[in-house]
Amino acid sequence: MTRPRVFITRKIPSVAAELLSSQAEVEVWPGALPPDRSTLLSKVADADGLLSLLTEKIDAELLDVGKRLRVVSNMAVGVNNIDIAAATARGIAIGNTPGVLTESTADLTVALLLAVARRVVESHLDAQRGLWKTWEPLGYLGLDLLGKTVGIVGLGRIGTAIAKRLHHGWEMKILYASRTPRPDAERELKGVRVSFDELLTQSDFVIAMTDLNPSTQYVFDRSAFRKMKRSAVFINSARGPLHRQEDLIAALEAGEIFGAGLDVTDPEPPPPDDPIYRTPRLVLTPHIASATIETRNRMAEMAARNILAGLSGEPLPFSINPDVVPRKTLQ
Ligand code: GLV
Repeated sequence: MTRPRVFITRKIPSVAAELLSSQAEVEVWPGALPPDRSTLLSKVADADGLLSLLTEKIDAELLDVGKRLRVVSNMAVGVNNIDIAAATARGIAIGNTPGVLTESTADLTVALLLAVARRVVESHLDAQRGLWKTWEPLGYLGLDLLGKTVGIVGLGRIGTAIAKRLHHGWEMKILYASRTPRPDAERELKGVRVSFDELLTQSDFVIAMTDLNPSTQYVFDRSAFRKMKRSAVFINSARGPLHRQEDLIAALEAGEIFGAGLDVTDPEPPPPDDPIYRTPRLVLTPHIASATIETRNRMAEMAARNILAGLSGEPLPFSINPDVVPRKTLQ
C-alpha cells in the first residue's frame, strides 16, 4: 500500500513535516512566494491531504482537480480563502487553527493602536533620517489612552482578548457591535453592546475584528469614517476587505480621522505603487498578527494534526465542516 501524499504550500515550522512524515509522503513548496495557480493545481492533483495558507484560493476548480483529496487544513483561523460549501459537497474535510493565535493577534492589535496613537513609526523614521534637532514642544503630538472608549466590531475570542488588555491596562470603556450579545464581556469588562453607528460615533478607538463575509465586506466605508470622531483611530487586524481601502486613504488624507493601523489590506500585498504606502498617519504591518515563534509552532502542529486525522478517516480535531468525516486513506 503506498503512503498517502501531503502537499504543504510553503515552508512552515518543521513540527508539521515531522509529524506528517511518520505517516505520509510530504512535499513542501520551497519558494518564498506561494506556488502559482497551475503549479498548485498540479500538486493538488496528486495529494490526499493539502496543508494550505490563507494565500491559497481553495475553490471548486481546485477541489475537482484534487480527485484523491480528503482533507484541507488551513494554517490560519480565518478560512475565507476556502469555498467551504464546495468542499462539503465533495466530502472533503476542512480544518483550521483556532484559539492558539488569539493572544498574539490581540498583542499586535494593541501594538498598532499604540503606534498610531503615539506616532511611534513616524517619529522613529524621522529620528533615523537625522531630523531630530531638538525637543519639540509641539512635535509628534499623539493621543492618550487612559480612560478612553474603544469600540470593537466583532467581540469573539480575539476581540475579547483585545478588550481585556485595553480595559484592564488602560481602564478603557468597552463598546461592541456583534450579532450576538456577549454576557461574559458585559459582566467582566463592563462591555456595552451598541449599534454599529453608535459605536462609530462614540469610540475614540475603533477596532475591526469580525469575520469577513458578504454582510461585513466594506462596512468601513467613507460614510463610516465620516461618522467617527475626527480624533478617532481605526485599526484593522482581521481581514482587509472589511474596510474600503480608497475610502480609508481619502479619510486620512482629508484629516477626517486621526490615524489608522492596518495589519491587513485589500489586496494583499498592495501593489508597489499603491497610495497606501504614502498615506499619512497610517501604520502598516504585513499581516503579522500571528507571527510569534510560539504561535506559529502551535499553528503548524494543529494544522498537521488535522491532516493526520483526515487521512485516518477520523473527525478533524479543529474542523470547519464537522459533518464531513473523510474516507480513510492511512492503513
Ligand atoms: C490570520 O489572519 C489567520 O486567519 O490565521
